[in-house]
Amino acid sequence: MKKKIEDALNEQINKEFFSAYLYLSMSAYLEGESLPGAARWMEIQAKEEAEHAMKIYTHIHERGGRVYLKSLDGPEQTWKSPLSAFEDALKHEIFITESIHNLVTLATEEKDYATLNMLQWFVSEQVEEEANARENVEMFKRVEDHPQGLFMVDRALAQRE
Ligand code: FEO
Repeated sequence: MKKKIEDALNEQINKEFFSAYLYLSMSAYLEGESLPGAARWMEIQAKEEAEHAMKIYTHIHERGGRVYLKSLDGPEQTWKSPLSAFEDALKHEIFITESIHNLVTLATEEKDYATLNMLQWFVSEQVEEEANARENVEMFKRVEDHPQGLFMVDRALAQRE
């Protein structure tokens, strides 16, 4: 595996683990806001992000590359409202999508077809990730300042498998 690709994939591992850290921080915040369903949703999301990181980790090793774990930035710890936390989650997913697309561009330029193939999974996953994040934002917008509605949204989010 070319060094350029290895470095870029290592960066992406860091971003995916940071995503896990960010969503776990959101989960803790939501728990404190007495929204256990929303907190659970974010906790599951955090675990998925760690799996995303591991997919790239495995790919690097399978290709004879080397993983270098870097330090993680501290995530935000509090938000002004549950809606603002979910808005930040959407912004973050848009940022991750851009990062995946940049990797696709790099792998194409470097003619690394195996990495391109691995990245296709992420391209599809990001469509789903953004759609879910958008749906959550819309749900929270609709129930802003309606405690009863907020309770219903929390119950709905608790259903995530
Ligand atoms: Fe791994 Fe939510 O992107």
